[in-house]
Amino acid sequence: MAPRPPNHRKILVTSALPYANGPIHLGHLVEYIQTDIWVRFQKLRGHTCHYVCADDAHGTPIMLRAQSEGIAPETLIARIGDDHRADFAEFLIGFDNYHSTHSDENRELASLIYTRLRDAGHIATRTITQAYDPVKEMFLPDRFIKGECPRCGAADQYGDSCEVCGATYSPTELKNAVSAISGAKPIEKESLHYFFKLGQFEQLLRNWTAAGHLQTEVANKLGEWFTDGLKEWDISRDAPYFGFEIPGAEGKYFYVWLDAPIGYMASFKNLCDRSGLDFDEYWQKGSETELYHFIGKDIIYFHALFWPAMLHGANFRMPTAINAHGFLTVNGQKMSKSRGTFIQARTYLDHLNPEYLRYYFAAKLGASIDDLDLNLDDFQLRVNADLVGKVVNIASRCAGFISKRFHGHLSKTCAEIDLYDTFVRSGEEIAGLYEKREFGQAMREIMTLADKANQYIDEKKPWALAKQDGQEQTVQEVCSVGLNLFRVLMTYLKPVLPRMAEQTEHFLGIEPMTWVNLTAPLTGHTIRTYEPLMMRVDPNAVTAMQDASKESLAPTAVPAAPTALASSPVAPEIGPLITIDDFGKIDLRIARIVKAEHVDGADKLLHLTLDIGGETRSVFAGIKSAYTPEDLEGRLTVMVANLAPRKMKFGLSEGMVLAAGPGGKDLFILNPDSGAQPGMRVK
Ligand code: 2FM
Ligand code: ZN
Repeated sequence: MAPRPPNHRKILVTSALPYANGPIHLGHLVEYIQTDIWVRFQKLRGHTCHYVCADDAHGTPIMLRAQSEGIAPETLIARIGDDHRADFAEFLIGFDNYHSTHSDENRELASLIYTRLRDAGHIATRTITQAYDPVKEMFLPDRFIKGECPRCGAADQYGDSCEVCGATYSPTELKNAVSAISGAKPIEKESLHYFFKLGQFEQLLRNWTAAGHLQTEVANKLGEWFTDGLKEWDISRDAPYFGFEIPGAEGKYFYVWLDAPIGYMASFKNLCDRSGLDFDEYWQKGSETELYHFIGKDIIYFHALFWPAMLHGANFRMPTAINAHGFLTVNGQKMSKSRGTFIQARTYLDHLNPEYLRYYFAAKLGASIDDLDLNLDDFQLRVNADLVGKVVNIASRCAGFISKRFHGHLSKTCAEIDLYDTFVRSGEEIAGLYEKREFGQAMREIMTLADKANQYIDEKKPWALAKQDGQEQTVQEVCSVGLNLFRVLMTYLKPVLPRMAEQTEHFLGIEPMTWVNLTAPLTGHTIRTYEPLMMRVDPNAVTAMQDASKESLAPTAVPAAPTALASSPVAPEIGPLITIDDFGKIDLRIARIVKAEHVDGADKLLHLTLDIGGETRSVFAGIKSAYTPEDLEGRLTVMVANLAPRKMKFGLSEGMVLAAGPGGKDLFILNPDSGAQPGMRVK
């Protein structure tokens, strides 16, 4: 462990809690990698720093997904929680605790905060009218109502905004609205709701948001929200809902966003109870500890307005800072399943070294909320040039001589102490950049030093000296200087490349590297035999990862289950507009499912053999959640008959089956009584 510095700090850090209804993808990882680098840096500098997170387990989408899988929500969130934990661990995200919002600690803290707010007069109740699904017998969140846009008339738009023209509206304005869950026409129904009176905190929030707790561009954005006025926030949802029942309000549940940030506290409480840390020291009003929330820019409103107000109103401390970041694009565009750039963490891990991505994100990250692009060609070039070509190269050029000619012994003195000191002195500037989250600049500084180290070795040419008589000692000295410079560089890269740093510690036979133990170079020290620390990025692995990301897309037109809110820091994908001519090219045909089979190793796919009137097609369709093969044989469906055949992991797919519904168990295909004949044109 790093020694405590004189200005020792106690810091609590969080990343946004991922929803427990879907896998982690590279868009999420921007944030976890950014936070993890910052936390590891603080720990390396000797500060006490705790990094906590949890799964965000409540809400309608999770409840419906569990229903569609025919399992209890608790079973679903346990399974997804395990997947999330495994993904994070393999990306070397070093949480001190990973918990769940569906936990005893969170229930208690959410009740405590709510009752304190209520007792202090910050909660109001009133009856509101909302869309209600009479078949499913539940109120419908805006994202679960679909219909025609009231402005441009586009079909199949969500109840809150139009993806075609960008209009925002209330679900009651949608034309021909239907429930995305049952397909029924929603009715309007009254219900009593609970509200948090945000307006009561306006002055507090105006002061707080202007006091340096936010990035400038975020503070400016909040200025606009103040101008629009702070509205009361609806914090209750009616049963059925997967969440915590509101104390004293039977049948009413906390809205998922009420207890989600409280999950930060709950995860820390769980850590405190296990490790003896003092919860109050970090959360009480006037606490001298620091509290940082790393988030995506899509959830600023919750973290910079609701959350500080809730904390203050319930007599807890407010955050030291909210650190927001931008969205991830891949190859300059929004992540896209059809382009194979919607890459899940697991798919990446199946093909590539996680430290490549950690370095690439670090090299591109700054402290602003600008979007960040993962360009897959640049990714390969950058990792190969910087990490393999510059940093690892120093060790691989020097280590062989030390092992073979000097039994692993470094020279007794450092022959270039001034050069070494220059490297050590740069450490303060690099630390300053890490502290400010200017990781890209920090990486550039480190690579400039790596260039200097390589230049030194190029000038001294140990490989040439080794062939000359009487130069033995110089060879040892030059290579020892090279390895000492490498050690300094790896110390600076340790927050980004923790595994490679650990391998370096093993290779050099040293204690864990920290900034402070760099002051003296390693002299008269014995190292182990060098093993390659990092390989070049294999371009075939990058291609295979993209192909696998395409393959995980089920070849149906089934919409993904809608989520109540942006579920991750990725810009939502709006498909490109097509013209009526483009649409005319699509040949839709009635098809009879003559055979339906399970596909070995595929969770979502069924293999269908389709008769389209004398011609047979083989299609893989992602409808396994809704149908067994027996349900399907003999039934009619609609297929895109002129889609170019696509090679998938499991075989060739010669078309696409159309189905409708919110996903899961609710996917609908035509039934055999429709009077349609295989091969008939549908449009
Ligand atoms: O947007 C999301 O993915 C949310 N699950 C983030 C919650 S962060 C915090 F408030 F819990
Ligand atoms: Zn529209």
